[in-house]
Amino acid sequence: MTSHPHNTDLDLAIRDAEARYVAANPASLARHEAARASLPGGNTRSVMWYPPFPVGLVRGEGAHVFDMDGHAYVDWVSEYSAGLYGHSNPVIAARIAEVVKDGIALGGPNLHEAGLGAELVARIPSLDRVRFTNSGTEANIMAISTARSVTGRNLVVAAREGYHGGVLTFAHGGSVLNLPFPWLMMDYNDVEGTEALLRAHAGDVACVILEQMLGGGGCIRASDAFLAMLRRVTTEIGAILIFDEVMTSRLDYHGFQSVTGVTPDMTTLGKYLGGGASFGAFGGRADIMDRFDPEKPDVYAHGGTFNNNVISMAAGHVGLTQVLTREASRRFNALGDRLRHAFQERIDAHGVAACTTGFGSLFNLHFIPQGKVTPDAVAHVDPRPGRLWHLEMMLAGHYVTPRGMIALSLPHDDADADAFIAALDRFLEDHRSILPRAGGPS
Ligand SMILES: Cc1ncc(COP(=O)(O)O)c(C=O)c1O
Repeated sequence: MTSHPHNTDLDLAIRDAEARYVAANPASLARHEAARASLPGGNTRSVMWYPPFPVGLVRGEGAHVFDMDGHAYVDWVSEYSAGLYGHSNPVIAARIAEVVKDGIALGGPNLHEAGLGAELVARIPSLDRVRFTNSGTEANIMAISTARSVTGRNLVVAAREGYHGGVLTFAHGGSVLNLPFPWLMMDYNDVEGTEALLRAHAGDVACVILEQMLGGGGCIRASDAFLAMLRRVTTEIGAILIFDEVMTSRLDYHGFQSVTGVTPDMTTLGKYLGGGASFGAFGGRADIMDRFDPEKPDVYAHGGTFNNNVISMAAGHVGLTQVLTREASRRFNALGDRLRHAFQERIDAHGVAACTTGFGSLFNLHFIPQGKVTPDAVAHVDPRPGRLWHLEMMLAGHYVTPRGMIALSLPHDDADADAFIAALDRFLEDHRSILPRAGGPS
């Protein structure tokens, strides 16, 4: 990409970057315009849209994606964490090619589902039993509905700015499309306020659902005190604690609950665990999950035509057993730690009011001063520095999310990380005069 004049104003800099982006992506723009005829705004997944228009992707290979205008990118979106294995991992691709020869949805138990179930139960501490769904959203709906039925209670507690699926979204005050569960909202990491909330509704709370690190909400970790309080108080009031590990399970071979040391009653899973194919799962204590045992009286029905589709089951199984080894999990999470720390070091060196939050292979760049990142601060931040960063990284060949979340995949290597650090460094160098300054007004 051509170099650009040093900008003195954030809005001008965004306009300048946008003009270069538009000029560099004519085929993506044409695709976007054509798609508008059948898809609202040319879009079928809200997070895939960003201004001025998204690049159309034609191919992925390892840790790289390629767009319609011939650009190659290092892929730091990693399908919003679902692309843990990178693109077309040869072991998984070969397994899918092999199994589809014998049919995809057989209409009966197949040879793959129990193996995947056994692997998940062996890895994730809270899972005695597990059931599969087609998405993380569905897994969370099933977990919440199960908790409400098991407890015979109504209220569902979730965190402001949390995300648990398309109809379970609490960013910016919540979506009008949310399911009409009777929600009670807690502030993430507010130990005293949340304990008071739970105790005030003690006999009516069916469950508390949360991520141990907000993914969509900005890679903000729950404090140990917050998780300990939730574990203690939910037990005392007879409510079910659900950890949504759809994203965070990638942070350790045994899931993030093995890192925090807190074991919930139920856990939901999704994303990469289907080996790159559509996937979700919910599970937990045997006494809860065995309500789904068809041989038991008063069994809960749980349908889903593609719950055990051969592609997700076989790809998920081979991924866990042959690709995501302990060593692979350790290595890519360590690379994420290195990258996050290097980002912070470059930010500090340039005196910019920004920081990174996160853990291992998942982190977020915020244009918020260090120590000031809360879900509320993330929701109300000036979007312009992040917008400029997004455009400039795309122009520099780094495929990134508009919200600054960075997810590693197994094929990322040190060279990819070094190139990304250099791109960030160049961005900070070029724009330091128009970015918020550390120590200045935030
Ligand atoms: C924490 C969390 N829960 C649930 C979901 C929903 O999963 P899916 O998109 O498979 O429905 C997501 C997806 O981004 C997620 O990040």
